[in-house]
Amino acid sequence: VPNMILPDLQPIPFPAPVGLLKTLLVVGFFTHVVPMNLALGGALVSALYLLAGKHQENAHASRLGHSMVFSLPFAISLAITQGIVPLLFLQLVYGPLYYTSSILMGVPWIAIIPMLLVAYYATYIAKFKEKALGAWVPYVLMGVFAIFAVIGFFFTNNMTLMLKPDTWQDFIVEGKTGLALNLLEPTLWSRYLHFALAAFAVTGLGIGTMGLYWEKRQAEYAGWLIRQGSAWYLGVTLLQIVVGFWFLFALPEPIRQNFLGGDKMGTHLFNFSNVLGVVSVISMALAWSRQSFAWFRTGLFTALGVVFSMTWMRHLLRDYTVSSFFSPEKAAVNPQWDLLIAFGVLAVGTIVYLVWLGKITIKSFDKPSNPV
Ligand code: HEM
Repeated sequence: VPNMILPDLQPIPFPAPVGLLKTLLVVGFFTHVVPMNLALGGALVSALYLLAGKHQENAHASRLGHSMVFSLPFAISLAITQGIVPLLFLQLVYGPLYYTSSILMGVPWIAIIPMLLVAYYATYIAKFKEKALGAWVPYVLMGVFAIFAVIGFFFTNNMTLMLKPDTWQDFIVEGKTGLALNLLEPTLWSRYLHFALAAFAVTGLGIGTMGLYWEKRQAEYAGWLIRQGSAWYLGVTLLQIVVGFWFLFALPEPIRQNFLGGDKMGTHLFNFSNVLGVVSVISMALAWSRQSFAWFRTGLFTALGVVFSMTWMRHLLRDYTVSSFFSPEKAAVNPQWDLLIAFGVLAVGTIVYLVWLGKITIKSFDKPSNPV
């Protein structure tokens, strides 16, 4: 390919088979994307409920708004810590691509850190200084949402710029090193919108899950939460069909074909996601119209399945795009099984610990002083 400047992979062999590293990358990204969606969508949706609760004397809306503000810092901290996981595997497997694009867009890229600090801190202010802030709380949350939306936009820029080394030289020639954004990328806006919209569907899943918590405690409020959550999921996902097709058709024809029959794995995943997506939409429609907890549960699990399989498709898209000039599979591998086993044991141990911690946290809310 002309104009291609591509650094070599690091000379040190991979510590594990590339297939395993990529699997951990995808699984890690899934654990990032769910809380990230709750943080991004939750920031705006909580503001909307607080505003709705204020004007219509709608007690449920203001209660939900407050609960969401209460839980927002949890979602953000999870999004950040779980962001490290794919970051490590991304650097390891796609370093020459990812490092270079990060340097090309260095200024906006590093700006993510101070932006995140400000937004994260602001959610704590909204949570703990609610009385002092008064009517300003929803607007602080909208500001947080705006910052998160820009952070996500920077991510989409980098994740697409790293796949197009043939465009890098232009940025250098034009003297834009450090300030590059990938604004000429044909899939940029559809891809970004697809991710940003998903945040509101997943926030709907979060709201409905609060309903599952209240199911046996306060049935009336719980039923209202189920309807709100399923309505968010349903409305946004129906819109997402349009955006999803826009994204699919913005892809270059040979790459799109991989999902439409060209590649077995891509096609199976695409079909599987679509079938599961339809099941989730039908389940949520029933959850909404019948105020049904059981249908919401079905909708919740199938929706999370859709997020996971789409996460995998997103990874395949990366490999389809770079396969002609970049193949980490060809690099040397020197598995360090002792370390991998230690990693596996610690990972499972951490998950068991977190489940236990989650259980006692949830239990601690069963007190008269429950703030949510
Ligand atoms: C609340 C702030 C954040 C938002 C809104 C956000 C949003 C996003 C979005 C939209 C993507 C997908 C971009 C695309 O493929 O087009 C993404 C990917 C990613 N994010 Fe985040 N992110 C946030 C914070 C973080 C943090 C703090 C880290 C690291 C510690 C992180 C690590 C990653 C990684 C590594 C990927 C790419 C994973 C892969 O390519 O498989 N994110 N993020």
